[in-house]
Amino acid sequence: MSQNNVFDYFNKQANWSFDQYGIVSESLTDWDLIDLIKRFATPDSRILDLGTAGGEKVIANYPVCAEILATDYSPEMIRTACKNLEKSGRTDITFKVMDNLNMDVPDNYFDIVTARHTITAPDQIIRCLKPGGLLLIRGVDKYDCHALKMVFGRGQGFDDPVPVSITDYEAVLGAGFAGVELVPIHEREYFKDRESFKSFLQRVPILNVCDEDRTIEDDLLDKYIRANTFGGMIRLLRRCYGITARKPE
Ligand SMILES: C[S@@+](CC[C@H](N)C(=O)[O-])C[C@H]1O[C@@H](n2cnc3c(N)ncnc32)[C@H](O)[C@@H]1O
Repeated sequence: MSQNNVFDYFNKQANWSFDQYGIVSESLTDWDLIDLIKRFATPDSRILDLGTAGGEKVIANYPVCAEILATDYSPEMIRTACKNLEKSGRTDITFKVMDNLNMDVPDNYFDIVTARHTITAPDQIIRCLKPGGLLLIRGVDKYDCHALKMVFGRGQGFDDPVPVSITDYEAVLGAGFAGVELVPIHEREYFKDRESFKSFLQRVPILNVCDEDRTIEDDLLDKYIRANTFGGMIRLLRRCYGITARKPE
């Protein structure tokens, strides 16, 4: 997908939520972005969240602290985030439009930078962190939903020669971060029926990376469902990764 298509895709998702699919999720590993933020943030912390979308996660889960700046390059997302903020009553959060690849924030300013399921430029992030500041990245890896992608013979990252986790890990190391850890995250998601699973797949960029093509072939879908139904629920294995890193003191 070209950068313009990616931008259009996210701009159109601004009022959309995963809640409608009633997904039941179970984590087999314990790297949790929100737990880590809560562990390391103090009331004096300044936090930057990159690619925040509608801000729901920041508003609901980030601890109240001195300052939280949450950014996204989609003006539609930031409009939605500002509306969500107004409803929340929180006063420690500000949203602004910013491209993660062309960051416009002060140097040596933030204690924590977070980036969940978005693109990052670690060489720019390191500049805006204070010495000793913490970077937390969570991303979707090449082997996410791999069995499903194998049945369909396509999907996000399916043909990547190098998994995105490795590309990100090397970029974080290359930017000069210290104590860099790359941790696999393995989750099971369960869908209650074929209809909700199919409409989820039509919506998300797992199989169809291009927004215009929503086709999910019924015969392939049924083949996957036959092999991946447990206790009446359709299972999808998610494979993400977490990166923790510190700017050297
Ligand atoms: C999959 S959503 C993740 C949203 C949120 N962080 C979460 O975890 O729910 C990816 C977000 O990254 C944003 N994004 C993608 N590329 C970006 C870029 N170059 N600069 C800033 N935001 C970007 C999109 O607009 C979208 O809101």
